[in-house]
Amino acid sequence: MAVRDILKMGDPRLLRVAKAVKKFDTDALHALVLDMEQTMLAAHGVGIAAPQIGEDLQVVIFGTGQPNVRYPDAEVIPKTVLINPVLVPLSERMEDGWEGCLSVPGMRGLVPRYTRLKYEGFDLRGQRIEREVSGFHARVVQHECDHLLGVLYPMKIKDMTQFGFVDVLFPELDPSSDD
Ligand code: NI
Repeated sequence: MAVRDILKMGDPRLLRVAKAVKKFDTDALHALVLDMEQTMLAAHGVGIAAPQIGEDLQVVIFGTGQPNVRYPDAEVIPKTVLINPVLVPLSERMEDGWEGCLSVPGMRGLVPRYTRLKYEGFDLRGQRIEREVSGFHARVVQHECDHLLGVLYPMKIKDMTQFGFVDVLFPELDPSSDD
């Protein structure tokens, strides 16, 4: 178990399409998720994907069940490990919202996302997960699962005037949360 280095945008390992997990409930998979949790918490993230620590696997985690210092006004998302995810939008409606990413430190951008979706996948033990979500929860899932397709949020910004440094865009935010 360890806090791992987070790859930053520009690293080609962030651009790969991640491989599906084939064996569940293994020591290696538990160890990977523990490293992801520790790395995410140390960076005050609301989610992290395995490729962000250089692991080419379809594993994302998000939510802590507690308010997040980087998104203090956002709803609380339950602590979730999601493996081999599939997302299905439940509405064509998209909404712009501000996003950051631990692989794009110090920046925020306005990104359109589906407002409602269903996600399916597996937990660490291989039990099926199926949830219908909306709002911030839906946004976070879309952001994290994009990492498994080699997509970083700046690639999805429609209006590049709405992309910048977090301390300039949001000077009122806690400076300890500027990652
Ligand atoms: Ni990210």
